[in-house]
Amino acid sequence: MKVLVTGGTGYIGSHTVVELQQKGYEVIIIDNLCNSTKDVIYAIKEITGILPEFYQIDLCDEHSVTDFFNKTKHISGIIHFAALKAVGESVEEPLKYYHNNIVSLLHILKGMNQSNIQNLVFSSSCTVYGQPDVLPVDESAPVKEPLSPYGHTKQICEEIIRNTIAAQQFNAILLRYFNPIGAHNSALIGELPLGVPNNLVPYITQTAIGKRDFLRVFGNDYQTADGTCIRDYIHVTDIAKAHIVAMERLQQNKTKTNCEVFNLGTGNGFSVMEVIKSFEKVSGLKLNYKFVARRPGDIEKVWANTDLANKELGWKAEKNIDEMMLSAWNWEKQLALKK
Ligand code: NAD
Ligand code: WQD
Repeated sequence: MKVLVTGGTGYIGSHTVVELQQKGYEVIIIDNLCNSTKDVIYAIKEITGILPEFYQIDLCDEHSVTDFFNKTKHISGIIHFAALKAVGESVEEPLKYYHNNIVSLLHILKGMNQSNIQNLVFSSSCTVYGQPDVLPVDESAPVKEPLSPYGHTKQICEEIIRNTIAAQQFNAILLRYFNPIGAHNSALIGELPLGVPNNLVPYITQTAIGKRDFLRVFGNDYQTADGTCIRDYIHVTDIAKAHIVAMERLQQNKTKTNCEVFNLGTGNGFSVMEVIKSFEKVSGLKLNYKFVARRPGDIEKVWANTDLANKELGWKAEKNIDEMMLSAWNWEKQLALKK
C-alpha cells in the first residue's frame, strides 16, 4: 500500500511516516521544506531502516503537483498535513495563510480526481470549536467564529472537502487535533520551531535548556482552579497512530459516512501550571517563569470528548502528561547535543 504524506518532514507528519512504515506502508513524502528540513528523512531512516521517497514540491505550484500525480501511480491514500500553522503570523499575513493552506488542498483534491485516489485524511484542529459552550467538546459542537485566519483556513478546508466529496467520489476523515506535544521516544525526530516558539511546550524546554530567559505564563486570572488556561495535550506519537487507524478504516471501506470527523485528544485538560509542574518533576529542574497579561485571542479552557474516536477508530491516547513532557525534554537535550 502506497500512501502519500504531504508535510511529511514536518512535526506530526514525520511521526506519522514512522508509524506508517512500521505498519508496512510504502510512504511518499511531499514537502516544500518551508518549515522543516530534508535531514528529517534520514532521521526517519535511522528509526525505521527505510528511507521514505521524498519530493520537494510546493503544493501551491499546480504544474508540479499535476506532474507528480501524472508520474506517480498506485497511491492508495493521502494524508494531508502540509499547511502553515503559526496563529500570530496568520493575523499579520492572512493572505499568505489563505493562499497556502487553501490552494495546497485544492491541488491535492484535483490530483485525487486526476489519479482516482479514494482516501483522504486531513489535519484539522480543535481551533474550529473556539471556546466551546459545553466541555468536554464533542464533534457535534458548533464550529465557532474563527479566532484567526489560520483557524479560518481549517474551517474552510473542512468545508471544501465536504463539498468536493458531494461532487467527486472519495472518502475523507477529518481529524481535529487538540494540543500535540512531545517527541518520538528515540529523540531522533520532534518539533523544530523556527525562531521564538509560539507554543507552550517548546517554550518551556527552550527556557530550561537556556535558550530563553524565562517563560511568560499568559494570564493567571482565568476561571480555572489555578487561574491559568486549560488544554488537552496529547503525545504526537498517539496522534500519529490515529492516522494509521484512520487510513486503514478508509482503505477497508469501514467508514460510516463519506466524510467522518474525529477529535484527537486524551480527554483530560491540564492547566499551564500543571504542565510546568509536570516538566519540573520529570526533568528535576526548576523552571524560570513569570505571570504576565493574558495573550489576546486565547481560549480559557478546552478539552476533548474522545468517545467517538475511542469507539469507532478503536484508538485511545496512551501517553500521560509526564511521558509527554519527558519526551519533549529528551528531544530538546538531543538538539542541544547536535549544536
Ligand atoms: P509543521 O509545520 O511541522 O509541518 C507542516 C509541513 O508542511 C512542514 O514541513 C512544511 O514545510 C510543509 N508545508 C507547508 N506548506 C506547504 C506547501 N505549500 N507545500 C508543501 N509543503 C508545505 O506542522 P505540524 O505541527 O506538523 O502540523 C501538521 C498539520 O497539523 C498542519 O496542517 C497543522 O495545521 C495541523 N495541526 C497542527 C497542530 C499543532 O499544534 N502542531 C494542531 C492542530 C492541527
Ligand atoms: C497553550 C497554553 C497559552 C506559550 C495553538 C493554536 C491552535 C492549535 C494548537 C493548530 C495557552 C499558554 C503559551 C507561552 C503561555 N494549533 N502559553 N506561554 O494556544 O492552545 O493553541 O496550538 O491548530 O490552533 O492556537 O497552544 O501551546 O500556544 O498555548 O502561557 O509562551 O499555554 O496561553 O494557555 P494553543 P499554545
